[in-house]
Amino acid sequence: MEDIIEVDGLTKKFGDLVAVDHISFMVKKGEIFGFLGPNGAGKSTCIKMLTTLLRPTSGSAKICGYDVVKERDHVRSYIGVVFQDRSSDRFLTGRQNLDFHARMYSMSKEERKEKISEVMDLLELNGKENIRLNNVSEGIRRRFEVARGFMADPKVVFLDEPTIGFDIKARMDLWNQIRRAKEKEGTTVMLTTHYIEEADYLCDRVVIIDQAKIVAIDTPDKLKEAVGTNLISLQIDCEPKVRKLENRRFSNANRNNGDFMETIKKLDWVKRAEEYSNSILLNVESGDGRVPELIDFADENGFIISSIDEHKPSLEDVFLHFTGRAIRDVEGGVKGMKKKGEIK
Ligand SMILES: Nc1ncnc2c1ncn2[C@@H]1O[C@H](COP(=O)(O)OP(=O)(O)OP(=O)(O)O)[C@@H](O)[C@H]1O
Ligand SMILES: [Mg+2]
Repeated sequence: MEDIIEVDGLTKKFGDLVAVDHISFMVKKGEIFGFLGPNGAGKSTCIKMLTTLLRPTSGSAKICGYDVVKERDHVRSYIGVVFQDRSSDRFLTGRQNLDFHARMYSMSKEERKEKISEVMDLLELNGKENIRLNNVSEGIRRRFEVARGFMADPKVVFLDEPTIGFDIKARMDLWNQIRRAKEKEGTTVMLTTHYIEEADYLCDRVVIIDQAKIVAIDTPDKLKEAVGTNLISLQIDCEPKVRKLENRRFSNANRNNGDFMETIKKLDWVKRAEEYSNSILLNVESGDGRVPELIDFADENGFIISSIDEHKPSLEDVFLHFTGRAIRDVEGGVKGMKKKGEIK
């Protein structure tokens, strides 16, 4: 399969700030390729360079074999773009927005009619086309923008945060519509997101980007495999207290995550332990029955576990593993959690 996007050492600096730092990757024709990263990671800056809107400071990128700096017009003729910021005219109807866009591509009246009807079918917008975008939900407005991205038979569609601010139903609808559009048109899709589930559900391959750099790149399943098969996350109660259990008295004074990390080395079924500022993540052999075993082990060693949760790895764990920080859906923000140590 041919590489339709080729990126080599792409870098963008704004003064002293390095927004995108020597990133390299290839995207195959027909892939849905996702950039997953928190606010300010450099996702939009990367998309802007690939869509010829920003000039790279160094490095190169090609779309369909054309250089994004030297062959800008060729690149533009092959791509559709949906920007992070809303870019449709809310004083026009959905159909008028699509029609205006089609005219910019010099489509004939017949072509416009046919193409508008096609993208409205794909994005399930029939019945909404004659309402001013002012009076439709954000989700519908966004769907018209995505429809517009697919209008001019692009080889690659770039979607910058396609579902930001959506509720889960609207988000799932759009995921399915993007998939269908991609399958029907054979289009390659590159999207950015800071939603874990979006990258997981929609993307064939995912790049994890943090602080301007790529930290991992693979299929969602392979990325998860790299973190482990069974994970247990837990929190230790570090408040000093004395408690009684089965006629034994325990004090957890001076017990903290660091002590627990040392102690847990005794358990050979813990393959890896990682400590974050307020939690510990364990990768364990066969998850079955490990939680009660762990609680007993903690008790025997004088630790109090305040919360514990067993789960299969998600891209959230992958992000935590590679960056030491957690991506949070809520408010699109990031809660910095410094990774302090690792054993095994
Ligand atoms: N035109 C600009 N001038 C100066 N700094 C910029 C400019 N555009 C972006 N930046 C900075 O570059 C960094 C990356 O920004 P970018 O918008 O690419 O991040 P992002 O991953 O898209 O974030 P978000 O999830 O918030 O959309 C940020 O620190 C941002 O403040
Ligand atoms: Mg952005």
